[in-house]
Amino acid sequence: MTGQRTLEDYLQRYAETGPLALAVAGAIDAVASAAVEIADLTGKGQLAGILGVATGRNSDGDLQRHLDIRADAIIRRCLGRIPIAALASEEAREAEICDPQGRICVAIDPLDGSSNIDINMTVGTIFSILPTPDDLAGCFRQPGTAQVAAGFVTYGPQTSLVLSVGEGVDVFTLDRAAACFRLVRVGLQISTHAEEFAINASNRRHWDAPVRTFVDECLAGVDGPANRDLNMRWIGSLVAETFRILTRGGVFLYPSDARPGYGDGRLRLVYEAHPIGFIIEQAGGLASTGYQRILDLSAQSLHQRVPLMMGASHDVRRIEELHCDPLLIASTTAPLFARRGFFRL
Ligand code: F6P
Ligand code: MN
Repeated sequence: MTGQRTLEDYLQRYAETGPLALAVAGAIDAVASAAVEIADLTGKGQLAGILGVATGRNSDGDLQRHLDIRADAIIRRCLGRIPIAALASEEAREAEICDPQGRICVAIDPLDGSSNIDINMTVGTIFSILPTPDDLAGCFRQPGTAQVAAGFVTYGPQTSLVLSVGEGVDVFTLDRAAACFRLVRVGLQISTHAEEFAINASNRRHWDAPVRTFVDECLAGVDGPANRDLNMRWIGSLVAETFRILTRGGVFLYPSDARPGYGDGRLRLVYEAHPIGFIIEQAGGLASTGYQRILDLSAQSLHQRVPLMMGASHDVRRIEELHCDPLLIASTTAPLFARRGFFRL
C-alpha cells in the first residue's frame, strides 16, 4: 500500500544513504517546490496572465512562451537555495556555474510541450541530475548512464512527479490542499509489446525508410509482421506521451527526418532524451536513436538534438533491427511476404 507517504518522507529516507544522495534529494525537493508553483500558474492560465502566444525564441531558435520564461525563473530560484555545481536549462544558451563545490549538476527543460499551454493540454518539467565530474566544464558532456536521478512533472488534470533515483520508477501526485506530493505508484513497468504507437505522422514524407517501414508495420496491425492491431496517439508533449507509455504501454518516435534542421530529430539530448531515456529504462523499456542506446551517448554541445525512439522493448528492438539491417526493409515491404501475399494465404 503506497498510502499517504509523502515525497518529503521518501527523500529523507533516500538521503540517509550517503552524501551524494543527500545532494540529489535536495535537488528533487527543490524541483518539487518549483512544480507546486508552476502547477498553480498553469492551472490559473489567463487568470495569472499566462498567454500561450510566443513572445520570442530561445537560444536554439524554438518559440518561447511567457510561461517558459516564468517556469525557468521559478526553478532557478528554488534550485538557488541548495548547493549545485552547475545548472543547464533549455531556456539559456550556456550552462551556469553555481557552486563548484556542489556534488551535483542539474539540467532542466522548465516547460516541455509548451505549445500546448493555450489549448489547455498537459505540459511538464523535465530534470536530469548528474554527479559533478573532476572537470566541471564537462559536466553536461557525461553519458546518460552517469545520471544519478531523473524525472519529470506533468501539469495536467493531476500534477504528478515521475521519479527514478536508479531503483525503478515511482510516481507522486500533488495533494493540492496540503501542497505536497504523495506516493501513488511504485515500481512502474512497461509491457514488452506496444499496443499504441506515437509519432507526428504529418512528417511521413520526410522520414527515412526504417521509420516508414516500422510505422507501416504498426498500421498493418494484425495483417502485418506486428501480428497485432495498434492504436495511435500524438499529443505533442513529450512528458504526456511518456506518462501515457508508463501507464498503459506503447512506443514513441521522434526520428530524424529530411526537413531542414531535423537531421537529428527535434528533441534535446541533455535535458529531454537523457532523463526520459533513464526513466524508460528504469521501467523496463528501451530508448534508442534507432542505431544506439540513448543513455550511451554523450553530448558534444548543450542543446544538441537526437532522434528518440522509446518505450516497449520488443518494439524498440524492432525499430533498431529495421535501422541496422536494410535487407529487412526490403523483405517486409515485398508484396510476396505480405499477409495476403503468395506465402501467407
Ligand atoms: O520539447 C519539444 C516538444 O514540445 C515535445 O514535448 C514534443 O514531443 C515535440 O516537441 C512535439 O513536436 P512536433 O510539434 O514537431 O510534433
Ligand atoms: Mn521540451
